[in-house]
Amino acid sequence: MRNVVLLGPPGAGKGTVASRLVQELGFLHVSTGDMLREEVAKGTPLGQLAQGYMTRGELVPDEVILTLVRQRVDAKKGVLFDGFPRTVAQAEGLERFTTVDVVVLLELERDEVVRRLSSRRICGACGAVYNLVTHPPVEPGRCDRCGGALILRDDDRPEVVARRFEVYMRDSAPLVAYYEGRGILRRVRAEGPPAEVFRAVAEALR
Ligand code: AP5
Repeated sequence: MRNVVLLGPPGAGKGTVASRLVQELGFLHVSTGDMLREEVAKGTPLGQLAQGYMTRGELVPDEVILTLVRQRVDAKKGVLFDGFPRTVAQAEGLERFTTVDVVVLLELERDEVVRRLSSRRICGACGAVYNLVTHPPVEPGRCDRCGGALILRDDDRPEVVARRFEVYMRDSAPLVAYYEGRGILRRVRAEGPPAEVFRAVAEALR
């Protein structure tokens, strides 16, 4: 197994692709966004610190993220990093404790990002992800998996989405050149239907 990074703007479909890759290829899924939301839900000191950054669409400080990820990585299993690293400092920190073999960049235009995030809903109970347009629940407002109520993520409000996109362009887009320079970046267009995007990612990993 290899260590893979999924890179791309907010709403590009990283979580959607990751959950299928984990099911089909058995990666250990390390999603810093999910880990932070768990800490927020539990009300831990880390969660309290992270919440303000997340609600504003800013990045949580690099040292906090690196400590969190380091605790989760298991050297015996291939890891799928989703939403991490997000800065060059995080990428350098990651290299100090494990290797990155392939980076898949999901490319999506800003307008489509805004469309996808404004129609995304998540289950408040189990975290399952839906989309009112492309992946609606069977019963409106209810999770197919656990029956929980579907909600809009706090940071999917339009003004926060705009900020998250700016932060991505400023802090995370430089990772494209960083990994291109190491010869491990593969680009995938992310605007097709989920199954098509998944196939393209699986192909890029071959
Ligand atoms: P995080 O949760 O990682 O947010 P993100 O990277 O902005 O990514 P998203 O979860 O919004 O989108 P996604 O690409 O996973 O898309 P999804 O599959 O859901 O981070 C949240 C916050 O935590 C950050 O802003 C920051 O504050 C903090 N944080 C996290 N990691 C950090 C780090 N490393 N450093 C510092 N701070 C950090 O899809 C989106 C929608 O589109 C869904 O509704 C889905 O159903 C739909 N969809 C998916 N694929 C398709 C498709 N092919 N066609 C049509 N619809 C689709």
